[in-house]
Amino acid sequence: MEECGCEHCGKEVKTKSGLKAVILVGGEGTRLRPLTYHTPKPMVPVLNLPFLEHVIRNLKEHNITEIVMAQFYLPASMREYFGDGSKLGVHLYYVMEETPMGSAGAVKNVEDFLDGTFFVLNGDIIQNRDFTAILKFHRRHHAKATVVLTPVADPTHYGVVETDKRNKVKRFLEKPKAEEVTTNMINAGTWVVEPEVLQRIPPDTKFSFERDVFPQMLADGLPFYAYPTDNYWMDTGTPENYLQLHRDLLSGKNEAYTFDTDVIKGKRCQIHPSVKFKGKVMIGDKCRIESGVKLSGPAVIGPNCRIGENTSISDSVIWHDTVIGEGVKIKSSILADNCKIGDDVKLTGTVVGDHVNIIEGIQLKKGSRVMPGEMVKSSDTASQKI
Ligand code: GTP
Repeated sequence: MEECGCEHCGKEVKTKSGLKAVILVGGEGTRLRPLTYHTPKPMVPVLNLPFLEHVIRNLKEHNITEIVMAQFYLPASMREYFGDGSKLGVHLYYVMEETPMGSAGAVKNVEDFLDGTFFVLNGDIIQNRDFTAILKFHRRHHAKATVVLTPVADPTHYGVVETDKRNKVKRFLEKPKAEEVTTNMINAGTWVVEPEVLQRIPPDTKFSFERDVFPQMLADGLPFYAYPTDNYWMDTGTPENYLQLHRDLLSGKNEAYTFDTDVIKGKRCQIHPSVKFKGKVMIGDKCRIESGVKLSGPAVIGPNCRIGENTSISDSVIWHDTVIGEGVKIKSSILADNCKIGDDVKLTGTVVGDHVNIIEGIQLKKGSRVMPGEMVKSSDTASQKI
């Protein structure tokens, strides 16, 4: 176990709420490639803030301020950005796995930090979690573990959880076939766990809560409960969901996100008076937007971007330090940081990795994926394989 070097490391730390949270942030985020080759999923920007910042703020609202990050993939940028957590009013511990340990193995790996009931959160879910209510429910049922449930239209990609009328878990079914599905309630990626459950996880072993620990707890008849909620929930694991998350947050579908104005501008932007806005548009600090540009929401432009004359952007998310030429059309696309997009380029439904250079006049096919660092010189050359 690696220590974070802070004054609290290895010491007992009590929170106001008396409990800690472990956030699983070690995954490689393969489904979100090419965005996640150089940016780990927890650092992928959502409304111009790292994804993880939204999760930490939600914990803080419920006085959960002792937070352990279970890391494996690209850990450095998280430490650099969040440091000891003090800017967000929390204390963060970072623990590295030598190899990916799976959800339960990762929690076992941070066992030294856990001294009582604790939360485990998937680091790629946006939900307004009412941690206070979830904990109350868990304690009322004297549960050894409680899993938060959310309804989804197609449960076949998720862990389906069957319960009885009293919300006691009856069955845990990972990624069931359509004919096996008996409920649309799935594991929402938030669990409350009692410390004795850690004894069920072998040390230094890849182990899963969903596939190993929870089914074994059920088989042994332990009190295992489910807390259903229909609060806004989104798994940001794919580019489609990532764009949908931005549409939802900007359109007010998630009640925790409200905006006073339709155009949310950062500091020190230079925006030509002829620029036309439609719908909700968020612009980061120090952006320069030239004359005749049309920005149609939902759209987010990261800090330090430049957008050339007569370019139009709609339903898209652009990360920081990207320079877009003149007469460009970008629709329903995601562009990572430090890209250079030439004049008259057309992108629809495209996902572009960081540091990509697309030369002028290129039109990419819908669904194209461009690898980080790639120079796109012909409309046929954008990577389809990621
Ligand atoms: P995909 O490769 O696209 O499936 O993404 P992923 O690697 O993030 O996997 P998944 O979406 O199943 O992971 C859910 C959450 O658990 C994410 O927040 C991951 O960062 C985290 N996670 C997945 N596997 C591990 C692991 O072995 N160790 C740690 N610490 N976290 C993990």
